[in-house]
Amino acid sequence: MGRRCCWRRRGLVTACLGAAFLLLCTAPRALRLAFENRSLGSIWLSGERRSPLQVLYDLDQSLSSPLAEVHRQRRDLLRQTCSRLTRRQHLLRPEDLRHVLVDDAHGLLYCYVPKVACTNWKRVLLALSGRARSDPRTIPARQAHAPGSLPSLADFTPAEINKRLRSYLTFLFVREPFERLASAYRNKFARPYSEAFQRRYGTRIVRRLRPRANPDALARGHDVRFAEFLGYLLDPRTRRDEPFNEHWERAHALCHPCRLRYDVVGKFETLTEDASFVLDLVGEPDLRFPMPPRPKGAAPRDQAARLFQDISPFYQRRLFDLYKMDFLLFNYSTPSYLRLR
Ligand SMILES: *[C@@H]1O[C@H](CO)[C@@H](O)[C@H](O)[C@H]1NC(C)=O
Ligand SMILES: *[C@@H]1O[C@H](CO)[C@@H](O)[C@H](O)[C@H]1NC(C)=O
Repeated sequence: MGRRCCWRRRGLVTACLGAAFLLLCTAPRALRLAFENRSLGSIWLSGERRSPLQVLYDLDQSLSSPLAEVHRQRRDLLRQTCSRLTRRQHLLRPEDLRHVLVDDAHGLLYCYVPKVACTNWKRVLLALSGRARSDPRTIPARQAHAPGSLPSLADFTPAEINKRLRSYLTFLFVREPFERLASAYRNKFARPYSEAFQRRYGTRIVRRLRPRANPDALARGHDVRFAEFLGYLLDPRTRRDEPFNEHWERAHALCHPCRLRYDVVGKFETLTEDASFVLDLVGEPDLRFPMPPRPKGAAPRDQAARLFQDISPFYQRRLFDLYKMDFLLFNYSTPSYLRLR
């Protein structure tokens, strides 16, 4: 009972009277999605082909796929953790759905989290939608990230958003929060090639957090230490001025997993299996997920451990509190290298 019932319920977004706010409430999701037939016109809705969501539903009912069972458990755990940790439903504004990308041809909604293979997912969505070459591996990253290359759910009206939330397969990919953070730091500050980030954020960090900084560092922001980066994240002024940059913003703050109902929670740690699980649901057997190159050097966990070893327990605790929701919602255990006392 519990399973069927949970699965059928789906968050619906309805427009709030007069306001540009979207209100989330829960209502039963139409089982066969028959009524969607009228309103949305793609191949799978004409009855020739099952939608990815329908395929997942059938797989879940058949109890025959161990991988579907893993995803069902992740979904259940996410739901339970959300109801345990979040208070009543909040309001969602259209711009909160900016990270949710839409593929109308296949009935997909993908919330992208930077540093979690999102370039490759964008390439796949571009290839699926026919907006780019059919082999995702040949699509340049620049094209995948170009603004407007893929429609975002935020671009639609509340009624159109509702329709898609009801009938599309909704998924995201997450990653161990501190490994993601370590990766963001390395990519944006520790390697010389992200001059834009160093200029925009690095100079700000040095100005704010480094007493007696030398003029070169102030001008270039090129040598930000991990401790300084964390100090910037924990500084209350940072989020008062503007939201975190998406590369270090918490996944839950980008994708709202307690307000939107995700059908598949993929993990970076099991990217190969989880990506092909999604692509199997989509029913595009010829499409291969382009795996990112194997990172050189130490394992991601060891790299994160090394960065954190010079951070005081006091700051470790505060940083853990900042990212705690991502640890809990996505079932990541507290890293053993932390000294949280
Ligand atoms: C959708 O519409 C087509 C034709 O308009 C119909 O043949 C098909 O049975 C419908 N599918 C569902 C699920 O209602
Ligand atoms: C949560 O994580 C634990 C420990 O890694 C694991 O044993 C368990 O299967 C996970 N649960 C879900 C639902 O993924």
